[in-house]
Amino acid sequence: MHTCNVPRLDARLTAAFDFVRPGHTAADIGCDHGKLSAALAGSGRCPLVLACDLRPGPLEKARVTCAPYGDRVQLRLGSGLSVLAPGEAEDIIIAGMGAETIIEILEAAPWVFDARYNLILVPATKHSILRRWLARRGFALRAETLCQAAGRWYAVMNARYTGEACEPDGLYCLTGLTAGQPGCAEYYASQNAKLKKYQLGLPDGAEKDAVGKLIAELEKQ
Ligand SMILES: C[S@@+](CC[C@H](N)C(=O)[O-])C[C@H]1O[C@@H](n2cnc3c(N)ncnc32)[C@H](O)[C@@H]1O
Repeated sequence: MHTCNVPRLDARLTAAFDFVRPGHTAADIGCDHGKLSAALAGSGRCPLVLACDLRPGPLEKARVTCAPYGDRVQLRLGSGLSVLAPGEAEDIIIAGMGAETIIEILEAAPWVFDARYNLILVPATKHSILRRWLARRGFALRAETLCQAAGRWYAVMNARYTGEACEPDGLYCLTGLTAGQPGCAEYYASQNAKLKKYQLGLPDGAEKDAVGKLIAELEKQ
């Protein structure tokens, strides 16, 4: 639903855009170039977008990109969700950071452990670690979109807090809700290549055996 004058988004950011609920205020954490914030405001999908970044340089880029949309985009400088008051934005996007950084950002904001927030998470690395953390901390994955951008595979995750924490199995952590999606065989191959590299560094023992079992399971998918 983009209008012609908003920035073009790649497959990864388009998938994130599609998970944002129309009519809700969104926060784009780590907005950098500001393209997603601009698309959300400029398309009319969100009445207000809070474009946030840790560093002044990226925020300045976002200011320029979002200038055409006036006060429908507000800029915030600071780390993670510390720049938001609880409830100020109900759709929260954290895209383009490693899983550990995304986890740190969410752990630092206990208010986000609440079903009212629609989380859109796009880890740049370590998808499995983020899926495991979400399950353990009581967030359910509602949907995932697998996509390729600049030659790399991304899983764009849509999560909501349910409070029902669980211990996910290894295969779920590696594949999430991507089964049957276009490109999933290639995605699993890339996940498996990382797992094999990890296994190589392990001493003989129970963990190495468990990882070997997981590699075999993933190859069967
Ligand atoms: C690779 S860019 C991603 C830009 C955009 N979200 C995307 O996915 O295309 C990562 C951005 O996150 C910002 N960032 C890193 N850690 C952050 C934090 N703790 N809080 C807010 N922004 C952060 C960086 O300054 C950078 O602009």
